[in-house]
Amino acid sequence: MEPLIKTEDLHKIYNPGENEVRALDGVSLSIYSGEFVAIVGHSGSGKSTLMNMLGCLDTPTSGRYFLDGRDVSALTDNQLSEIRNKKIGFIFQGFNLIPNLDATGNVELPLIYRGMGRAERRRLAVQALKRVGLGARMKHHPSELSGGQQQRVAVARAIAAQPPVILADEPTGNLDSRSTSDIMNILKALHKSGRTVVIITHDDDIAQQADRVIRIMDGRVEADYLNHTDNAASGCEEKEMEDIIHEKQEENNRPDSQ
Ligand SMILES: Nc1ncnc2c1ncn2[C@@H]1O[C@H](COP(=O)(O)OP(=O)(O)O)[C@@H](O)[C@H]1O
Ligand SMILES: [Mg+2]
Repeated sequence: MEPLIKTEDLHKIYNPGENEVRALDGVSLSIYSGEFVAIVGHSGSGKSTLMNMLGCLDTPTSGRYFLDGRDVSALTDNQLSEIRNKKIGFIFQGFNLIPNLDATGNVELPLIYRGMGRAERRRLAVQALKRVGLGARMKHHPSELSGGQQQRVAVARAIAAQPPVILADEPTGNLDSRSTSDIMNILKALHKSGRTVVIITHDDDIAQQADRVIRIMDGRVEADYLNHTDNAASGCEEKEMEDIIHEKQEENNRPDSQ
């Protein structure tokens, strides 16, 4: 099987010359469809730079990147944004929701860029919001939602178009512990239903929850290992995810919920 993500000797040098920073210094890695991977490292280790490469938000100084079999290392900005839109669902630390759109509008937004018709957009947005347990909050604006709920809208936005890769950069960085476990449970459930999930974190407790950990230091892969925990890939049914999310939904509809 071909890897979904494959990098070969990726380098990213900022400010080439005297004050150059080797943010990525020869990263070669492969991630296969259906994996749940945490990329972990200290602040400044190159995580966000790697995320920008994997997410086609930036191009490497040298090295090659194959996404779903296609060499994307030397594409133009327009080509990259098209690939990005089709292949990757992003989740960021800061949610990045549009304040004057309700939850449904936010989830629909990337579908508009895909040129999808209104009815189909609405159908996928509603489906995604239900999946993250926000069926009862679809008309709420971001300011009317808790941080944890806003991040679940962002997760719905990332998964609505069913991209092959979900890429999350410190998705729980701004959340309390309860909302953190909500988001991690949703990501685990998505993984169990067959999605490929890559989560970037500085937090070892979060990394331990993935099946595989890629540890980076000074722009290099320092370690790459499988976690042998109960959450290791088991290929469970779609229904199980719905049960998990449904429980979450009940929980979060309680008045004291975060
Ligand atoms: N745009 C930039 N220009 C110059 N240096 C940068 C830039 N972005 C990141 N860096 C440097 O590259 C290194 C890796 O940064 P980053 O990828 O943001 O690490 P992390 O996300 O792990 O904290 C750091 O030394 C950082 O200061
Ligand atoms: Mg970072």
